[in-house]
Amino acid sequence: EKEIKILAIESSCDETAAAVVVNGRDVRSNVISSQIALHTLYGGVVPEIASRKHIEKINQVIEQALEDAHMTLDDMDAIGVTYGPGLVGALLVGVAEAKAIAYAKNLPLVGVHHIEGHISANYIENKDLEPPFLCLVVSGGHTHLVKVTDYGKYEILGKTRDDAAGEAFDKVARAIGLGYPGGPKIEKISHEGNPDAIQFPRAKVGGGAYDFSFSGLKSAVLNYLNGCKMKGIEIHPADVAASFQKAVTDVLVEHAMHAIDEFGMDRFAIAGGVASNGTLRAAMEEACRKKGVQFYHPSPILCTDNAAMIGAAAYYDFLAGKRDGLDLNAIPNLKL
Ligand code: KG4
Ligand code: ZN
Repeated sequence: EKEIKILAIESSCDETAAAVVVNGRDVRSNVISSQIALHTLYGGVVPEIASRKHIEKINQVIEQALEDAHMTLDDMDAIGVTYGPGLVGALLVGVAEAKAIAYAKNLPLVGVHHIEGHISANYIENKDLEPPFLCLVVSGGHTHLVKVTDYGKYEILGKTRDDAAGEAFDKVARAIGLGYPGGPKIEKISHEGNPDAIQFPRAKVGGGAYDFSFSGLKSAVLNYLNGCKMKGIEIHPADVAASFQKAVTDVLVEHAMHAIDEFGMDRFAIAGGVASNGTLRAAMEEACRKKGVQFYHPSPILCTDNAAMIGAAAYYDFLAGKRDGLDLNAIPNLKL
């Protein structure tokens, strides 16, 4: 069997990343240059700064990915790149780079949907995982419950009506003075808090059975903090963080288990930055164990943005015959 070697590029938000992935699941290198320290100064990602930093870093990151894999561009069979959704200026850097390499080296170009990348991160360490399975994608920009019916074939069962799960983590972290990025900081401080200290609402959304809403929960946390300040009650940030994290986890687990029952799924995976949260993983693992459902999740480094996951997705798109031309463009609001 011929090996298909893909150079994958990801630049949709604040990580400049490149990876070499062989046959979709064998990661030979995975280089991530994070801009987090830079954006921390501003309390969140500044799009213009992200674009500029991607331009500065992208060649270096690609060279490192090839070097780590002990390969050169001449060894590659295709170029995979995230072309949406994401910040348009940030996406454009990766897309332009990928097109330049594809043109110069006469290589096939495969545009990848960022969420498809997150889902495909599960293939890398779980060699036995194959569709069909259910996947919950929880990141800074997305909260999607997706039925993966085949490689590259997705049915969206539900998504957030307002804030994404990761966005709620980031906003609540800011409100309790933890700074950016909020997810890992909330998780850390929650270990010292009581998850049952404060009863935050578990939002029910009318209509779509699997849709999510996190803006109400975020407002409830802000109202609680304001109420404490007005009444002169002492705030325990660890209790607020742990109670918030529990509320998010409860809603995500409930929706996922409901869908597992309704669609009779026997495999369930989580993906995206929030999927690296230990409390969420443990709760999902336990809920799946009770149902006899096989639970999958990527390692934390493959949950947050990276190019290895884009290489995994690009491989299955490549096998399916997907090819993009040099007119491939960044699409900030690309639909799955
Ligand atoms: O997938 P990702 O790197 O970027 C997007 O595609 O959005 O996800 C980033 C999001 C951020 O909102 C961050 O706060 C959240 O994932 N996150 C976490 C954790 N690590 C990252 N949320 C909860 N717990 C974590 N440990
Ligand atoms: Zn992402």
